Amino acid sequence: MTDYIEIPHIRTELPGPRSKELLALARRYEPPVFNQQVPIVWASGTGAQVTDVDGNVFIDMTSGVLVTNIGHSHSEHVKAIQDQAGLLLNCYDFTTEWRAKLVEKLIEITPPTFERVILMTTGAEAIETAVKIARRYTGRTEIIAFDDGFHGRTYGSLSVGGKSSLRKGFGPTLPGVHHAHFPFCGRCSMADIPERCPYHTTEELDRIVRTSLSGEVAALIIEPYLGAGGSLFPPPGWLAMVSEWCKKRDIVFILDEVQSSFGRTGTLFAFEQEGFIPDLLCVGKGLGSGIPISAVLGPAGIMDQLDAGSFSTTSGGNPLACRAALNSIDIVLKENLAGRAVQLGKMMADRLKGLASRYAIVDEARGRGLVWGLEVVTDSETHQPAPEIAKGIIYSAFYKGVLIIAPIGSYGNVIRLAPPLVISEHLLLRAMDLIEAAVRELSI
Ligand SMILES: Cc1ncc(COP(=O)(O)O)c(C=O)c1O
Repeated sequence: MTDYIEIPHIRTELPGPRSKELLALARRYEPPVFNQQVPIVWASGTGAQVTDVDGNVFIDMTSGVLVTNIGHSHSEHVKAIQDQAGLLLNCYDFTTEWRAKLVEKLIEITPPTFERVILMTTGAEAIETAVKIARRYTGRTEIIAFDDGFHGRTYGSLSVGGKSSLRKGFGPTLPGVHHAHFPFCGRCSMADIPERCPYHTTEELDRIVRTSLSGEVAALIIEPYLGAGGSLFPPPGWLAMVSEWCKKRDIVFILDEVQSSFGRTGTLFAFEQEGFIPDLLCVGKGLGSGIPISAVLGPAGIMDQLDAGSFSTTSGGNPLACRAALNSIDIVLKENLAGRAVQLGKMMADRLKGLASRYAIVDEARGRGLVWGLEVVTDSETHQPAPEIAKGIIYSAFYKGVLIIAPIGSYGNVIRLAPPLVISEHLLLRAMDLIEAAVRELSI
């Protein structure tokens, strides 16, 4: 009989001795360019549990960074990867069985307007690909993007992102990109009169076309909700309105579902809940559930006009990634993980909205399915963003055995909670209890 251990299980001081050694080693050689996460050295993961190199077991509220939707080390996923590693790892642009089956599968699970797929390696690469396709197809150059949007850190993706802190010192970025205001009422001077707000309509887009552009708009790019921007969701129906606006002007609508797809928000793709279909769809992260792979999907009318060689990459569509992605999609469908995100999402919503009503430092809980953000503030009077308190909550949760990513959002005060979609009810509720204990601690 194996001993039952309650999860989380913290058996050393944190960080533990082996973690300390390895953190020091990594810090000696890696520049401080990464987000500052809590001091843990991951050793292994299973489902929604992560074990560090000292044997401490945490509940995972990160899914890596919204990657491992099917859970860490899913046995079928591991088997597929192991089998493929013994067969073939790279063959450049040559087709394999898995590559052919993966592109077929992606077309099968998306609406019929999607007829072609380009496989890439990272989310940022998919974004750059989509922007290039839109420019090439329309023969125009300008791009409308959104304040606080995040699309990656390579030059093209950074340029369409709406975060100046990420661009600082790296300019000039891509010319021809214009950022529109995203319709989120928090901290907006129009919040009291949303019915008269230009951001809730397409007036803001008209304004940009009138004032900042030269009539050469190739594409509009947006996420279904601003993830790294602070878990900001647009008003109902707004994305469909924007899609219509684009259609009327023959502007390519690029939807960045790099983090929101494969069940995360309660449907396979987030756009399914918004009543529209984008022209180009970018996916990544959960596509490979840990093996790097991304894709851009679009109609034949757009994609077939591209020249041979224009999008080839060394690792895009490699056999390992394709087989892993095929397998991961099968698991998402077979285990109905989107449905699970809806069911567990209700529990999460209940608990997190409860936190917002009980604790003055939690201003709001925003989310859908199994991706949630807690807006942390100094108090309920001034609603001032409180990045230090957010960090405090994340550290306190860490010491209690719950793993959370460093805070996000424009003010660094939003706590992002996104467990693997396979998390058990028991572990999810345990994590909610511990997060509440951390919020209580920081409220005093
Ligand atoms: C919405 C979105 N787009 C693009 C990216 C970039 O993906 P990658 O880090 O794989 O380049 C991310 C990464 O967090 C993302 O969240």
